[in-house]
Amino acid sequence: MTISIKTSEEIEKMRVAGRLAAEVLEMIEPYVKPGVSTGELDRLCHDYIVNTQHAVSASLGYHGFPKSVCISVNDVVCHGIPSDDKLLKDGDIVNIDVTVIKDEYHGDTSKMYLVGKPTIQGERLCRITQESLYLALRLVKPGIRLRTLGREIQKFVEAQDFSVVREYCGHGIGKGFHEEPQVLHYDADDGGVVLQPGMTFTVEPMVNAGDYRIRSMKDGWTVKTKDRSLSAQYEHTIVVTENGCEILTLRKDDTIPAVLVNEA
Ligand code: CO
Repeated sequence: MTISIKTSEEIEKMRVAGRLAAEVLEMIEPYVKPGVSTGELDRLCHDYIVNTQHAVSASLGYHGFPKSVCISVNDVVCHGIPSDDKLLKDGDIVNIDVTVIKDEYHGDTSKMYLVGKPTIQGERLCRITQESLYLALRLVKPGIRLRTLGREIQKFVEAQDFSVVREYCGHGIGKGFHEEPQVLHYDADDGGVVLQPGMTFTVEPMVNAGDYRIRSMKDGWTVKTKDRSLSAQYEHTIVVTENGCEILTLRKDDTIPAVLVNEA
């Protein structure tokens, strides 16, 4: 497995792409309200990426994906296709996943939105999922095994009686949307990968309120929980630094600094 180490020039381009992806998630926040369709949210994201950011959606047309962002509601685990028929309602939990390309480099990020008045379980699932991402990011530094991240995410999530989806993982990112390595969010063989400065990858745990198993819908994209329980996901793109990591897709509503120093 070849994991590319980015130069400082490449990392600067990834900072730009990462910031743009994060800004799409910030821009769309006030529109995620009861009664809006996921198709309308997709159009707003698309127009912002193209006309304001002068960037490109990496998702549009990716292996035939028909829309510019993925919008996954409640028991949809990932890859929900935005639709004018899908209206959000009070208590829904919604993931919007954005990948933009700017100057050849990718920025990939997603977050959860609580629609209207949140349910107790929906709020808790989203909070625990974001905490599992944050705890993994705080562990990142050169010299640690990649599998440490998945092991600790799984331990934390299962202690809360939630489960980690197995079939989807984080990934290296750069000029490629999906590069080596695969970043698993549960304890599994990582092929011996040890983190090094200049590696850029995503961490993006998908957490189910019930069983970890999933089922794929006939549209070829939408993935739901098998037991119809709620599912949540948060994703950041990061670069490993000399003593920790830098989050390239940080938003104003994140409660973690962009530059994490891990001296432990
Ligand atoms: Co990703």
